[in-house]
Amino acid sequence: MSEMKRIALFDTTLRDGEQAAHVNLNAAEKLQVARQLEAMRIDVIEAGFPASSPGDFACVRAVAGEVRGVAVAALARAREDDIRRAAEALEGAVRPRLHVFIASSPIHMRLKLRMTPAEVLAAIRTSIPLARSLCPDVQFSAEDASRSDPDFLVELYRAAAAGGAATLNITDTVGYARPGEFESLFRRVIAGVGAGPDIVFSAHCHNDLGLATANSLAAIRAGAGQIEVTLNGLGERGGNAALEEIVMNLRVRRDFHAADTRIDASRLVAASRLASRLTGVVVSPNKPVVGANAFSHESGIHQQGIIADRSTYEIIRAEDVGAEAAVIVLGKHSGRNALGERLEKLGYSLPPWQIDKAFAAFKKLCDEKREISDGDLEALAAEIVSAAPERVYTLGAYEINCGNRVPGGPTAWVALRTNDGKEICDAAVGNGPVDAAYIAMQRIIGLNLTLENFAITATSQSSDAAGEAQVTVRHASGISASGRGISTDTVKACIIAYLSAVNNLYMAAAAKEIRIGTGRYKS
Ligand code: KIV
Ligand code: ZN
Repeated sequence: MSEMKRIALFDTTLRDGEQAAHVNLNAAEKLQVARQLEAMRIDVIEAGFPASSPGDFACVRAVAGEVRGVAVAALARAREDDIRRAAEALEGAVRPRLHVFIASSPIHMRLKLRMTPAEVLAAIRTSIPLARSLCPDVQFSAEDASRSDPDFLVELYRAAAAGGAATLNITDTVGYARPGEFESLFRRVIAGVGAGPDIVFSAHCHNDLGLATANSLAAIRAGAGQIEVTLNGLGERGGNAALEEIVMNLRVRRDFHAADTRIDASRLVAASRLASRLTGVVVSPNKPVVGANAFSHESGIHQQGIIADRSTYEIIRAEDVGAEAAVIVLGKHSGRNALGERLEKLGYSLPPWQIDKAFAAFKKLCDEKREISDGDLEALAAEIVSAAPERVYTLGAYEINCGNRVPGGPTAWVALRTNDGKEICDAAVGNGPVDAAYIAMQRIIGLNLTLENFAITATSQSSDAAGEAQVTVRHASGISASGRGISTDTVKACIIAYLSAVNNLYMAAAAKEIRIGTGRYKS
């Protein structure tokens, strides 16, 4: 197996992320985000663009002064005043990084910078050494690199490396690149500049066409050692490559990428929520990894899979990213199993026939409400439980007297216990021991029952085989039910089968909301 490559993550939530429309973080807010990023073990935090405003200068200074465990970067254009301002803001940092950029695409150079390619190259040749004289760690970015001439890019990056930049950042500023294309660009630049232990190639991708993550991963394939990201993919227009997506792509598909970050992924959801709360940018529920629905399942088929084994429909364990474990959202697509499981969690262990009832009531409720809360389910379950069968019998004791010397024929004495704690007994004479027991039980139960079916078989061929009895009884109301009993005592098997048929009859009646009464012995 190939060796795992360590990818550094450069988080620019506080700089590029903050450039998103309507986002404005003050120093205290930036500090909160920076602390989260530090705890998550990010490699570099880009805290701001000090020359852009006094406020941003103060923010960079605050983060640089507070964050001790990771590098803190500040952005500067390839101009002396910007670079000095950034270096000043970084003064308190333990590990400062000065990030210098200039545009390299024809359209940016001509229309935005109004500079010739030679002037851009000259700006790099003067600004990078200046930055390097003020800061031990310098990063250079060619803005709009993906729309730049690759040979020109190689020239620019070579100049930056020669001037002392240790990180060379290749950008897809407008989210225009395709993964294959971006990978080729990386390979070309790396080959042209020359890879060495002192140079790290970095990717900075925007998400205008939804390819920021794919392009960043393509860059890793081509040799990038650093990826620039933001929490929740925050950033200008379609945003930047999302930190959580890069981290989990590398972790879940380590087999393919043979690369990983040092990020503590269990902090991803908390960091995402903090960023969302402070910036006011709501995270879409279907956002990969951190969205509210990332571990929710509503379709019945999916829920059944998740209940059996979460890996049927989840490739990430919720707890690995700090999310709450799989949420089974009960709604109209949910199945009977999911309902049964939730009721069990709510403390209702219902027999199958009651779950059937609950499921029917639940589906009815789903037509009235989009999402069913635990409170709704409790109300529903309580109603079903309160409509429990009127009676359930268990066998207390029995005595059979039979043989060719018993006067009057076989007799049976049977004692049954009821669900309300009573024990009732009776005795009868019959045509055989089973007939006598059935007559005695019929007297106790006191319902108008007909024996519709009766069969008894041995479970093996030996004389000590258990007997298996099958019984079906029909009530005068038309409801019928079956029961089964097994015992090495054949008469006992028949008694149990009869009792089980009677109990099932009561349950079937309750399910149909038909009262058949409690028999001769009232509660
Ligand atoms: O998108 C971009 O090109 C940038 C650079 C300043 C790195 O944000
Ligand atoms: Zn950017």
